[in-house]
Amino acid sequence: MNYATIGTSWITEKFISAAKCVEDMKLYAVYSRNEYTARAFAEKHGAEKYFTSLEDLANDKNTDSVYIASPNAFHFEQSKFLLEHSKNVICEKPATTTKEQMEYLIKLAEEKNLVYTEAIMSVHTNAFDTLKELLCQIGRIRSVNLNFCQLSSKYPAYLEGKNPNIFNPEMHTGCLMDIGVYNLYIAAALFGEPDKILSDAHFLESGADSNGCAIFSYKDKSISLLYSKTGQNYAPSEIIGDKGTISIDSISQLTGIDFISKETKYNVVPYELDRDTVMSGEARFFKDMVRSKDFTNPKYIFATQTALTVRKMCDIIRQQNSFPF
Ligand SMILES: NC(=O)c1ccc[n+]([C@@H]2O[C@H](COP(=O)([O-])OP(=O)(O)OC[C@H]3O[C@@H](n4cnc5c(N)ncnc54)[C@H](OP(=O)(O)O)[C@@H]3O)[C@@H](O)[C@H]2O)c1
Repeated sequence: MNYATIGTSWITEKFISAAKCVEDMKLYAVYSRNEYTARAFAEKHGAEKYFTSLEDLANDKNTDSVYIASPNAFHFEQSKFLLEHSKNVICEKPATTTKEQMEYLIKLAEEKNLVYTEAIMSVHTNAFDTLKELLCQIGRIRSVNLNFCQLSSKYPAYLEGKNPNIFNPEMHTGCLMDIGVYNLYIAAALFGEPDKILSDAHFLESGADSNGCAIFSYKDKSISLLYSKTGQNYAPSEIIGDKGTISIDSISQLTGIDFISKETKYNVVPYELDRDTVMSGEARFFKDMVRSKDFTNPKYIFATQTALTVRKMCDIIRQQNSFPF
């Protein structure tokens, strides 16, 4: 599989590195808006070609698939354009801003027999399967607490009066659409769509949300979700059953998973796993799908359905809190 990348930041480098763990996945081309960056990025990562025009990338016959890691606001148009030009697409989370946009792209990909999926590492890890197995061992689950608060490395720049993309609502970014998505993903992937969502959000002067929380109410359980880009949490997330509790240190990478009960406590997934191991799952899934084009694959159906559920959750939370986008 010859793939190309859009975006030249840290996360694209991580994806390229993770994709090297997947056989037959070849970085063929890179795209940047800037010629110097494009050439340097291609050289650094051994790509044969670089592009500074999306049209040229879309028309390149040797590129069959594209990984998109641009700011969120560009995801929909870039994915649409590439699918229209017969490229398979894996797009960074959140792959679209709204559920409607995602439905449109899923339909477009279906019509063109192409793979379209969201790059979300958690649900493609081995740890996710382990977590699902563990759920059967903790009895009846009534309470879940999902925490992900990560003080952004861009926050000091924001406080100095700069306008980093991550705190610029014109980029459809901020806390919910960056960090919050991980909490929503685990809720959606493990427990599906809630009956009711109550949420709160706080905003910076830029108009981007700095932090928020939500309660997802299901018939048999409540999930509380806490997310922030302006503060750091140290307490883990917990899935609490009447026979045991699963403690999760990182909800985005699904590392540091412990089983705890009155009688015992043991570690199930290590606290430290290298990023390539964590991210290679999404790359492998994408490559396997591009190779097989087996759209009846339960993993593809699950990934698509979960992505849609997360979009719906995001839409509701944005609406409830009058987000500017
Ligand atoms: N999976 C993960 O763990 C993870 C981690 C971080 C980020 N992400 C996701 O990755 C995506 C990119 O995040 P990021 O923090 O890397 O974003 P970013 O640094 O703001 O932008 C990413 C790339 O997009 C291009 N870009 C920047 N500003 C742009 C603009 N105004 N118009 C068009 N292109 C622009 C730049 O590439 P060129 O200048 O070369 O064109 C840049 O390298 C987001 O969707 C984010 O949610 C995922």
